[in-house]
Amino acid sequence: MKSELMNPSHFLSENVKMIKPSGIRRFFDLASQMENVISLGVGEPDFVTPWNYREASILSLEEGFTAYSPNAGLLELRQEISAYMEQRFSVHYSSENEIIVTVGASEALDIALRATLNPGEEIIVVEPCFVSYVPIVELAGGKAVTVRALPEYDFKIQPEQIEEVITEKTKGIIICSPNNPTGTVLNKQELEGIASVALKHNLLVFSDEIYAELSYDEPYTSIASLPKMRDRTIVMNGFSKAFAMTGWRLGFVCGPNEILQAMLKIHQYAIMCAPTMSQFAAIEALKNGHTEMKKMIRSYHSRRNYMVEELNEIGLPCHVPGGAFYVFPNITSTGLSSEEFAEKLLIEQQVAVVPGSVFGASGEGYIRCSYATSIDQLQEAITRIKNFLK
Ligand SMILES: Cc1ncc(COP(=O)(O)O)c(C=O)c1O
Repeated sequence: MKSELMNPSHFLSENVKMIKPSGIRRFFDLASQMENVISLGVGEPDFVTPWNYREASILSLEEGFTAYSPNAGLLELRQEISAYMEQRFSVHYSSENEIIVTVGASEALDIALRATLNPGEEIIVVEPCFVSYVPIVELAGGKAVTVRALPEYDFKIQPEQIEEVITEKTKGIIICSPNNPTGTVLNKQELEGIASVALKHNLLVFSDEIYAELSYDEPYTSIASLPKMRDRTIVMNGFSKAFAMTGWRLGFVCGPNEILQAMLKIHQYAIMCAPTMSQFAAIEALKNGHTEMKKMIRSYHSRRNYMVEELNEIGLPCHVPGGAFYVFPNITSTGLSSEEFAEKLLIEQQVAVVPGSVFGASGEGYIRCSYATSIDQLQEAITRIKNFLK
């Protein structure tokens, strides 16, 4: 008994013990020990945060704004977010009580799930998906029920597939458009299909819109803007991707007042408030950041076109992803599993990619390559992948 108590793992919660470490980490650890590696692995912009946002933050520090902000975030920032949501996505949220500034979209998702899930309730997670969805549902005490978005539908989930897995315990569904890892964007009509299932079965929709601005081919639709959807949708968004601000850890969440107020309880006890200096940068980003953002988007767009064309040319079939900064080519012609492919490619050619299987079983047979890196690096990566395939 005594020796058992001396073992620190004895103190861990069962909930945490069942969570597996992220599959991406192993590859980064391996890559970090090697030289001359081209990384197509990380999911973050290669741009430094534009100067005017950084300057706004520096100015706030010079002026001494170093204290906590209100729990929900600086009112001026919430007002900017409210205007942004209205202008960009045609949904109105009150800056008073329907917006919380969070520590990234990550925290937004966490508090949304914790505020709404009761033990054992089910959340439908569309695979392949961002690595945190399943663990974060489980950490909130829920059960993640995965459903596969199929390559024959360009990785777009079909409404009938959602209906097939609904039980009396289903509370809601997490959707992510543009998607990580596939880059797939759901258009208005496709979102209407999902909305009709949510309305019919009284489901909550957790809509991860962190890549919304990085949507290249069609105007972006938020599911919250569809008729009757605003009051059953929680929108998670943030500054990490389109505004090139990953390290500032700043996101936001919008939703109906009653749900947001429940989320605010968790946020205020767990986090207190998002970093104040980051909030000043975000105000500037929303007020005056659109020219810089458009430049970055144009650059990602042309890199997307380059990668899709080259990957198809060298024999790794790749659909055209409508958004985000990932391509998701099929590697089954090599006879290797996605993990074997990624490991061999790293060791033999020093190119780091992420095996599709880390995004769920339906990602097997694919690899995720981030093209948020310079065109020179992308060209070199393609040359190396071509050599690897010889
Ligand atoms: C789909 C998706 N959602 C959320 C996040 C987390 O974003 P944040 O930096 O705002 O926490 C990421 C980051 O990679 C992501 O890919």
